[in-house]
Amino acid sequence: MKPGIEWRQPRASADSEQFAADLRAALSRSPKAISPKYFYDETGSRLFEQICELPEYYPTRTELALLQTHADDMAAQFGAGVQLVEYGAGALRKVRLLLDSIPRDSVQFVPVDISGSHLLAACDGLAADYPGLAIQPLVADFTRPHGLPPCPAGSRRVGFFPGSSIGNFTPAEADAFLRLAASELAGGGLLIGIDLVKDQQVLHAAYNDVAGVTAAFNLNVLARARHELGAEFPADGFEHLAFYNPAYRRIEMHLRASRPLELQLDGEVYAFHEGETLHTEHSHKYTVEGFQAMAARAGFRPGKVWTDENRWFAVLWLEAQRAA
Ligand code: AVJ
Repeated sequence: MKPGIEWRQPRASADSEQFAADLRAALSRSPKAISPKYFYDETGSRLFEQICELPEYYPTRTELALLQTHADDMAAQFGAGVQLVEYGAGALRKVRLLLDSIPRDSVQFVPVDISGSHLLAACDGLAADYPGLAIQPLVADFTRPHGLPPCPAGSRRVGFFPGSSIGNFTPAEADAFLRLAASELAGGGLLIGIDLVKDQQVLHAAYNDVAGVTAAFNLNVLARARHELGAEFPADGFEHLAFYNPAYRRIEMHLRASRPLELQLDGEVYAFHEGETLHTEHSHKYTVEGFQAMAARAGFRPGKVWTDENRWFAVLWLEAQRAA
């Protein structure tokens, strides 16, 4: 496979116009809610990387240890030639552990991320450390069909979706994503990390870190609205709120108005009453069995599972049935 970085359709999927339209819609609905994808501008992506290092935030550390220990076993599921597609690629730290277990000339790596500048920097770093690796970055929203490069002859397409990013989706959205992935990956498979249901205090602490990084990450959505879209609102008007909602098995993050206030955007005024929130994120937690059942309904055949001794996090291999 041809080594080096080959850019594909670099387009700004999360551009300001889209953000403005989505924010207006978010503020007009009741309850107010916006997609967590707007966390990830450059500042937000940097804050997220800091979250991954926090002592309270166990998912990254736990998943990295699983990848470290079992990379050979995971890569053995892929087969001889592989087009490895990473959904929501971010910093490209975890995939290195897999790449270390695959012969360099038998893999084409396709990182897909919504943040173009962040992806570019990460790919430069990867290319420097993995000379000879074929890299085809794709700037796109991976929840929409996004035109992957064709799978090289003799290769299987394998998806890599670490970090429990799928937790951001509602069950209906997760189902839709898995169906899309099952068709994109038909004949190959999906290696996916999921955060497991656990002690509520452990969950609560992971989204309410003492250093306040998660709060800054959450508040960054509004900071973005201010400097990118010219939104106006009181600087200290909103506070970070994150809690576990056991009925839905999910962490919810919100930005809560600390007093009655107004947010102005494009000449429109949006009122918040005291305590009213803008819902910014879901982070669903799963059981291994529950997730495998959902994947099976979407067209996957569940395979091997790797989990830590606390059973806090799991990495699952799912075979994508070849299209009939
Ligand atoms: C990237 C969606 C997996 O839900 O734990 C971390 C995002 N939000 N802290 C998660 C996040 C607050 C993270 N995911």
